[in-house]
Amino acid sequence: MSSPGDPFDLAVDGHRVKTPIAIASMAGVVDAAYIAARADHVGMGFAGGYSIDPPTIEASRRMAGGGRCEFLPGDPVAEIGRQADLLSRLPVVGGVNLRASTPGALADLAGSVGDRVIYEIDAHCRQKPMMEAGSGEFLLHHPDRLVEMVRALASREVMVSVKIRAGVAGSDPELARRLWEAGAGLLHVDLMDAGHAKIRQIRNASPIMIIANNSMQSFDRVMEMFSHGADLVSLARHSDPETLAGLDAAITRYAGEFGWYNAPKQLCRGGDVRALTFCCLPVKDCPLQPTLKKVNLSREEYVNLKREAVKGTPLQDGQYTCFGSLAWCCKATSPCLLRDATLEQMGMTKKEYMQRKRELSRAIMDRVFPPRART
Ligand SMILES: Cc1cc2nc3c(=O)[nH]c(=O)nc-3n(C[C@H](O)[C@H](O)[C@H](O)COP(=O)(O)O)c2cc1C
Ligand code: SF4
Ligand code: SF4
Repeated sequence: MSSPGDPFDLAVDGHRVKTPIAIASMAGVVDAAYIAARADHVGMGFAGGYSIDPPTIEASRRMAGGGRCEFLPGDPVAEIGRQADLLSRLPVVGGVNLRASTPGALADLAGSVGDRVIYEIDAHCRQKPMMEAGSGEFLLHHPDRLVEMVRALASREVMVSVKIRAGVAGSDPELARRLWEAGAGLLHVDLMDAGHAKIRQIRNASPIMIIANNSMQSFDRVMEMFSHGADLVSLARHSDPETLAGLDAAITRYAGEFGWYNAPKQLCRGGDVRALTFCCLPVKDCPLQPTLKKVNLSREEYVNLKREAVKGTPLQDGQYTCFGSLAWCCKATSPCLLRDATLEQMGMTKKEYMQRKRELSRAIMDRVFPPRART
């Protein structure tokens, strides 16, 4: 469970992420120094993008010739290694955003630089030269190639992120699932004009860690993403220290008060699959039934799963609640005298209740998306 010193209880690849805010890459702008200057208010930062093989380097040259800002180091592998060193000394989890045209180029880079950073595949850039080089958004139109790239990096035992633009691939949830099964740990989603519904669709299709991106500079927008399944949000154009500090303070305050910063809405209010943690016993016709069907859980499996997961924990208790156990009780923000009286009697704060509901939701997600689903 989270502690006062760690209100988010969030980690990537075993490394603690101190706040669920990331800096998204901007070619020619975001490097380790840029991230260092903002490190107090972010938990992750992605330097780059860096073009790493001859076709993408040539594309970067053409883009720079057309007036775009690009990083064009003489020796990209040495430069990415240097950036990785600088990032690994910061109190943030660092990543590098990479443009590559082949899986081999990524695997070779990971072989040289090692697991000091997260490797983020740029499947986002829609500049013509980059797409012609077989990189950026080209990969969203050729998902098999993107999957191969993820596999190539995962085979080097490094943490893989994929940066996508929503609404380009045939199906974003299907793509997310395939990328997770191939070994990606993070999906960095530029939502463009899509709203939180896109985040919920992706969350319902895989347990991959989701970073929601695009215009995430207001607390309300960020909370909308969190309550529909995002684990982090990221900022590029508005990654100025003032905006980051304001968001960090507001999110930290919220987490300190409510205990689970990205708690889903109740299922019947549009929540994602994690909301099964707040669902009742299956006794009525409601959104629970179709959701169980979608995630291939029978009613009995659902009941047993929750009963088993809360066994020996305080959520097992609650004989005066609707269904005799807090396992079936609603989100703390849904008013309920019965539950609140039970919590008071047990000496459990609403914050602790929500933290325990988060643990229950993790057990549910592990069951719905077992690791063996990976290919
Ligand atoms: C100048 C600039 C350069 C960018 N370069 C990259 C890049 O190299 N790789 C990438 O994945 N995204 C790149 N992006 C996209 C951003 O990371 C981000 O997805 C986009 O700007 C939307 O998020 P925002 O509203 O926080 O800016 C770039 C964006 C800008 C404005
Ligand atoms: S089980 Fe309860 S909380 Fe879940 S969708 Fe049905 S009515 Fe809503
Ligand atoms: S006791 Fe209250 S919180 Fe628990 S299931 Fe019933 S209405 Fe929901």
